[in-house]
Amino acid sequence: MKRLQAGVAILGLALCAMTQAAPIEIKFSHVVAENTPKGQMALKFKELVEQRLAGKVEVKVYPNSQLYGDGKELEAMLLGDVELIAPSLSKFKKYTNQLQIFDLPFLFKDIESVDRFQQSDAGQGLLKSLEPKGLVGLGYLHNGLKQLSANAPLRTPDDASGKKFRIMSSDVLSAQFEAVEAVPLKKPFSEVFTLLQTKAIDGQENTWSNIYSKKFFEVQPYITESNHGVLDYMVVTSADFWNNLPDDIRMELSKALSEAVTLGNQIAAEKASADRQLIIDSNRSELITLTDAERQQWVDAMKPVWSQFEDQIGTDLIQAAVASNQ
Ligand code: LMR
Repeated sequence: MKRLQAGVAILGLALCAMTQAAPIEIKFSHVVAENTPKGQMALKFKELVEQRLAGKVEVKVYPNSQLYGDGKELEAMLLGDVELIAPSLSKFKKYTNQLQIFDLPFLFKDIESVDRFQQSDAGQGLLKSLEPKGLVGLGYLHNGLKQLSANAPLRTPDDASGKKFRIMSSDVLSAQFEAVEAVPLKKPFSEVFTLLQTKAIDGQENTWSNIYSKKFFEVQPYITESNHGVLDYMVVTSADFWNNLPDDIRMELSKALSEAVTLGNQIAAEKASADRQLIIDSNRSELITLTDAERQQWVDAMKPVWSQFEDQIGTDLIQAAVASNQ
């Protein structure tokens, strides 16, 4: 009888400890504004997780480089200081060469082609390219195609010659601007507005939603609708964190993330046209539409960059990406 009582007491204590266990905390850090595809995706993920895993998991979202700027967020993740991030695919150079494929200029015809490639076996395989570094790619998220903004009209590659452009930390993007004799400068996203405002740089490349939400259009009188490259994201966590989660929680988190990404992708598609229109309506920046002949000059100048990176990226991978363009 005494044994039974002791057993019940131990069970009671264990149950008590279980119910009092602190919720798992997920810090989701990113560098963009909240009214962007990534900003909205992060908030949707938080909402879904806190509905479905109430008391078990808490999500804290830190937008606008509040917690870590883009130079630091991957390092912070490997140190266990942040659990979820979604850097642009252009920011993984230190960790893998293969993701450089997404930076090749004029590789994808449109965002649907990018999506087909990401969902293909080759694209899904790339989610695993960070595993040797202790990182887990949970999925892709769209932002959109990039445009060129500058303090002078850019119609042909000659117009970019000698101008300083801020780029993300990508060697391919560096080569892309060198190919038109411009000067690329790798700088964190959080510094771009001030660099443009103070004229420390002449231009930059980004998506409509980033140009709008960070007000770059207010300090860049010309935007060339070049659609010359893609800016998408990989949602990443660390193997240490992810693999140590209880199975049922990991499954719920994956489900919530996939639903949040679906919403983020819808917002990306909407913002690609809505934010473009808001910028036009603002009359702060002139939209430059290229003729086919002008656009072809940019293609001819920038496409040779592919062969510079073919060995690092892999010919088969490039062919798979090209094949997604139908
Ligand atoms: C940039 O640095 O321009 C972008 O990667 C920012 C972002 O995360 O969209």
